[in-house]
Amino acid sequence: MRLKDRVAVVTGAAQGIGRAVAELYAKEGARVAVVDVQAEAAEKVAAGIRESGGDAVAVVCDVSDRAAVNEAAATVKETYGPIDILVNNAGVTRPAMLHKMTEEQWETVLAVHLHGSFHWLQAVVHDMIERETGRIIFTSSSTAQNGSIGQINYAAAKSGMLGMVRTAARELGRYNILVNAVAPAAATEMTLKVRTDPRFADAVKRLPLRRHAEPEEIAPTFVYLACAESGYMTGQVLSVDGGGMMVR
Ligand SMILES: NC(=O)c1ccc[n+]([C@@H]2O[C@H](COP(=O)([O-])OP(=O)(O)OC[C@H]3O[C@@H](n4cnc5c(N)ncnc54)[C@H](O)[C@@H]3O)[C@@H](O)[C@H]2O)c1
Repeated sequence: MRLKDRVAVVTGAAQGIGRAVAELYAKEGARVAVVDVQAEAAEKVAAGIRESGGDAVAVVCDVSDRAAVNEAAATVKETYGPIDILVNNAGVTRPAMLHKMTEEQWETVLAVHLHGSFHWLQAVVHDMIERETGRIIFTSSSTAQNGSIGQINYAAAKSGMLGMVRTAARELGRYNILVNAVAPAAATEMTLKVRTDPRFADAVKRLPLRRHAEPEEIAPTFVYLACAESGYMTGQVLSVDGGGMMVR
């Protein structure tokens, strides 16, 4: 078990990539906080982990709300002790062409990805500095590099996350806190529309691997970035996208 007794927070873990990460972390021995704004779905994931012999607790929290994040972090600490691993994964999209995008669409996406990640960073970092250990993993996107039509808010958020990764990696390296990102592509609810829209039917054929991935194929990279094997790696982005980054 590569994460035995580590305390992990995975945000956006009620479904999709976050759910797969939470489940695999638990299999690797971590005690996992399944953090999400969807209470029922988060509880279902945590209960499923417990039924399989793992240790997990559901923690309801809107990551864009700083007070809610602080409260959630305190709950995790009370339940399991100080947090060893933070996965900033919660995400939303609010697509619109930039000339039609509303302030609300812009702000919602930035609030979840950027403010949410910042809130969680600050909620865990003091203990990590004191204990001189920690792993922080962001879920970014190839959109950070390539842009994406109709997603200027999401591209700004995902690029911003990479700036946070590199800055946090530089600031926190001296405390043995490693900060990295994953840029995934997977079949989740978030990508359902794009995957089923006939206008994008050819996109998958351009991928070197010529198929979509399940979230379970993305999760092992999050284990790698949380365990001892990646102990000399910080400030990096790992693309797990079927080679999509090369061909866009
Ligand atoms: N699926 C992909 O191909 C892909 C590609 C690049 C990046 N990503 C990123 O991966 C992450 C996970 O996405 P996914 O594909 O699993 O999508 P998803 O929609 O299946 O899951 C997102 C989860 O985040 C939760 N969430 C949303 N807003 C929240 C908030 N304010 N507070 C707490 N939780 C909140 C949702 O309830 C949901 O459980 C996101 O950050 C997304 O941007 C996904």
